Amino acid sequence: MIEVKNLCFSRSDGENKENILNQLNLSVPAAQHLALLGDSGSGKTTLLHVLAGLLQADSGLVSVNDQELSLLDETQLTLYRRKIGLIFQHYQLLDCLTVKQNILFQHKLNFPKQDANEFDHLVTELGLQDKLDALPHQLSGGEQQRVGIARALLNKPQIIFADEPTGNLDRKRSHQVVKLLTELCSARKINLVMVTHSHQLTDYFDHVKVLRDGRFD
Ligand SMILES: Nc1ncnc2c1ncn2[C@@H]1O[C@H](COP(=O)(O)OP(=O)(O)OP(=O)(O)O)[C@@H](O)[C@H]1O
Ligand SMILES: [Mg+2]
Repeated sequence: MIEVKNLCFSRSDGENKENILNQLNLSVPAAQHLALLGDSGSGKTTLLHVLAGLLQADSGLVSVNDQELSLLDETQLTLYRRKIGLIFQHYQLLDCLTVKQNILFQHKLNFPKQDANEFDHLVTELGLQDKLDALPHQLSGGEQQRVGIARALLNKPQIIFADEPTGNLDRKRSHQVVKLLTELCSARKINLVMVTHSHQLTDYFDHVKVLRDGRFD
């Protein structure tokens, strides 16, 4: 579960300080899904990065699965980040690796049998079984994002943060991808936080929050 209380985050260029996130409060119970909306520049990616332990809050409480991030040292933060799955707008696939290699890329070297089963399961659920030897440029945008989802889920994350995963997809493919992503996360009881610009996609989520200039509406 995710608990945020009075979170503030600012950036400074040495002279001027800009408040990016102001007094945010948020609660997402275990296994539930949050859609995060807001105009460009409102702070969505920044918030995702604070929750993922990639940026540190100035003040306030950020607690994920009962771990308060500000209390973690570098080693603990690294362990925390390993329990997170990230999905990006531009997929971030490696062009010279096949679909299968991309999915397995960040996975541990010893690949236990149960993970092999999970790999087969995910690939089938995501409809990628005939594409495993293809290179990313031979896939449609929707297929590439399904590879990104498989890669994120194979590490058995406790939480998935997805930053505009449908930003490059048309309406139909956006719905397909978000439906799949939310179903897969539900089946595995994974917390999901997804940034989107599309109000039409919020029906798939338990909670919706809108950021406006670093504050929740
Ligand atoms: N590395 C950075 N250095 C300085 N300012 C930054 C940096 N990253 C983001 N910002 C600023 O922080 C604010 C919030 O940016 P953020 O990327 O979180 O917005 P966003 O809601 O994700 O926007 P978009 O929908 O365009 O992705 C913006 O004013 C942006 O210019
Ligand atoms: Mg962003």
